[in-house]
Amino acid sequence: MQELEDPFRVGLEEVEKLREETPLIFVDVHAEATSEKMALAWFLDGKVSAVLGTHTHVQTADERILPGGTAYITDVGMTGPRDGIIGMEREEVIQRFLTQLPVRFQVAKGTAQLDAVLVEVDEQTGKALAIQRIHLVEGFGEMDP
Ligand SMILES: [Fe+2]
Repeated sequence: MQELEDPFRVGLEEVEKLREETPLIFVDVHAEATSEKMALAWFLDGKVSAVLGTHTHVQTADERILPGGTAYITDVGMTGPRDGIIGMEREEVIQRFLTQLPVRFQVAKGTAQLDAVLVEVDEQTGKALAIQRIHLVEGFGEMDP
């Protein structure tokens, strides 16, 4: 990815500013690397209610509450068409890998899925009490066939 400001230093500065207004702080870490998301969560543990990873489109099964009271998951997952390739029509994505030529991607059609997390937070302290993964597939409820 493009070089940006250091998310650890800038993130902490922003969190400290927000904490003057509220203890209820949710951080969305839109990043590729699992290690970066995990490191940021441990770095902010106890200072924010949740650090929730996004971007990979694949929900991870590592949701937990860190010792300081921060809820964490490496990736929340994707809400969109389940049978595409991270939401896009399969044929176009495969064609791009086969030819290395630019291909216009279109959103896939078909069965929808909804990925999310439900985080319960103590309103006074901002500490997370619980985190639950949600993975719903259209027509199948919570169980993915
Ligand atoms: Fe992304």
